[in-house]
Amino acid sequence: MALLTKIVHTLVTPAPDTELFPRWHTPHRMIELEDLSLHYRLGDTRIEVLRSVRLHVAAGERVAITGPSGSGKTSLLLLLSGLERPAAGRIRVQGTELGTLDADALADLRRDHIGIVFQSFHLLPSLSALDNVALPLQMAGQRDAHTRAAALLQRVGLGERQQHYPGQLSGGEQQRVAIARALVHRPRLLLADEPTGNLDDHTGEAIRELLFELNRETGTTLVLVTHDPAFAARCDRVLRLHDGQLHEEAVRHQASDALPA
Ligand SMILES: Nc1ncnc2c1ncn2[C@@H]1O[C@H](COP(=O)(O)OP(=O)(O)OP(=O)(O)O)[C@@H](O)[C@H]1O
Ligand SMILES: [Mg+2]
Repeated sequence: MALLTKIVHTLVTPAPDTELFPRWHTPHRMIELEDLSLHYRLGDTRIEVLRSVRLHVAAGERVAITGPSGSGKTSLLLLLSGLERPAAGRIRVQGTELGTLDADALADLRRDHIGIVFQSFHLLPSLSALDNVALPLQMAGQRDAHTRAAALLQRVGLGERQQHYPGQLSGGEQQRVAIARALVHRPRLLLADEPTGNLDDHTGEAIRELLFELNRETGTTLVLVTHDPAFAARCDRVLRLHDGQLHEEAVRHQASDALPA
């Protein structure tokens, strides 16, 4: 299934009941990667992207992932969200092994617990900014979807752009709509791919503050792919992806059970 199809699948899979934030037990480990490998095939060429990557991220941790262009950062986030399948190894999110879930169950997991900010946004072009942000809540049966979406758009500085379609927004504005869409259901895990990549310093700081506030208030685990030093400096750990492997670059505060890559 193409990536955009899977994203739409996530957005249009209604929840079986209307409880958006079920009371569920937060396991100590949010992410466990064991010997994760990924390659792509293009004709006869095999592109090795990840080689036996190991990573544990505790619930509530803030982790920055850096690395050169083409090192596999986006691929890693796609694996963590179940949008890509590994060649080998195991991915557990909240203790559930993703390899045991079918496409519908993966879509349910994303809809209920994971927020994803894609590097290329993947907004739905035929929906307004407001409707793009409200859609995940509507699909979860929330009656106040538009009110909450509007409040979050205001918060990312787009109160005046709610009725614009993605094609009528600048790159940085589209990025902020994508961030609002990823946060609107208060996910337990946020995967964000260069979320300030298109933003000026001032707007970037507002977005950084929003993400760390979410982390403080709801304990959301943050996994941020970023080249932004101000972002990395505020994370608990900075990991660098290079030659298919993750290396620990900096540890500010290491959660008790977080293992190095
Ligand atoms: N669907 C695909 N088919 C074949 N090769 C792919 C595919 N997606 C990515 N690649 C290749 O895999 C490697 C890793 O890509 P990825 O997008 O994960 O890198 P990245 O670290 O996110 O780079 P950037 O910083 O430029 O966003 C690259 O060499 C890329 O060309
Ligand atoms: Mg990328």
